[in-house]
Amino acid sequence: MNTDQLKETFIGLYGESEGEINIFFSPGRVNLIGEHTDYNGGYVFPCALSFGTYILVRINNTRKVRFATTNFDHRGEVNLDEPFEKEGKSWINYPVGVLNEFRKTAREIEGVDLLYSGDIPNGAGLSSSASIEMVTAFAMNHLFEFGLDRMDLVKLSQKAENLFVGVNCGIMDQFASGMGAADHALFLNCDTLDFERVPLKLKGMKIIIANTNKRRGLADSKYNERRAQCESAVEAIRTQKNIKHLSDLNLDEFNSMSHLIHDEDQKKRARHVISENNRTLTAIDALNSGDIEAFGQLMNQSHDSLRDDYEVTGKELDTLVEEARKIEGTVGSRMTGAGFGGCTVSIVKEDAVETFIREVGKGYAERTNLTADFYVAEIGDGSKQIH
Ligand code: GLA
Repeated sequence: MNTDQLKETFIGLYGESEGEINIFFSPGRVNLIGEHTDYNGGYVFPCALSFGTYILVRINNTRKVRFATTNFDHRGEVNLDEPFEKEGKSWINYPVGVLNEFRKTAREIEGVDLLYSGDIPNGAGLSSSASIEMVTAFAMNHLFEFGLDRMDLVKLSQKAENLFVGVNCGIMDQFASGMGAADHALFLNCDTLDFERVPLKLKGMKIIIANTNKRRGLADSKYNERRAQCESAVEAIRTQKNIKHLSDLNLDEFNSMSHLIHDEDQKKRARHVISENNRTLTAIDALNSGDIEAFGQLMNQSHDSLRDDYEVTGKELDTLVEEARKIEGTVGSRMTGAGFGGCTVSIVKEDAVETFIREVGKGYAERTNLTADFYVAEIGDGSKQIH
């Protein structure tokens, strides 16, 4: 990202002034395994990407916060002496939601001019929204010396999305954006929030992200429906055993109690969550012992479970994964993120990367009439100040 050019754009929009322009960055994420487990108190294993959202910020000595972005034409403004209101489906809801959470804890900011710039493909399910929230939280915390730590900012950003934007997401995306570290994945227990940064030792292999470029239509409502089904499954299990989350059960316990869940869909959702949680633990052991082939197998099983039990894949994601698995040199391939479109993540041997991109792209286009985009992922740091 060319930050000098961004500064010029900033000055073009807001004019010259004495005030300093600070620049901050928060990344998007890709999840390697542990999908739809975060809001079930389970384990996730995401990493931060080298692309994400930049923010340029300057105090403007007014009572206004002004928003602009290089990604869309739409600009906005809020008055610090008035209640913050949600503005339709605008991107501004993400940062305003964050300001609203600061306000709830009596952390008042001053008027600022803001310019956002993101290099995450839009709507790809790589957490562009979490990166906007995190970069806003990180920048305001720094500028106004609120003294919150990264974990506080992660939780605050998740609340902004749950309560202001109205998407009932778990904590994984904001966590990965805020806490990531270059060349490491994050092993997080979403119940206790204990975590570990695990070195990604992928000798001679690359992480390839493939974007279906399918618009994620009703994703939010289907996401909330899955959450509700998991909660109902917990209720059903509670008639016999007092659990807090589905992830409190191991597979054997689940198998002996699954008859308590009468709704077949709920039973399948629960089976995915519990088996995925188990796969995530096994996958991290495999990675730590250098067995990437085993890690890849578990990624494949994760996709199959998301397809058959959780039913969040769809034709486009399934096609990308099927095409990927045809390539010799693909170690594992699965959907990543919420599903219903978005991206897949694959581990591919370095000498097969070119063939992978060419052949998977070709097969996908033939079968779906859509063009996929491919990225060789670079695993970067979490939120940081650039200038
Ligand atoms: C979205 C949510 C996350 C998580 C994933 C599925 O990315 O924002 O909290 O639930 O879906 O694993």
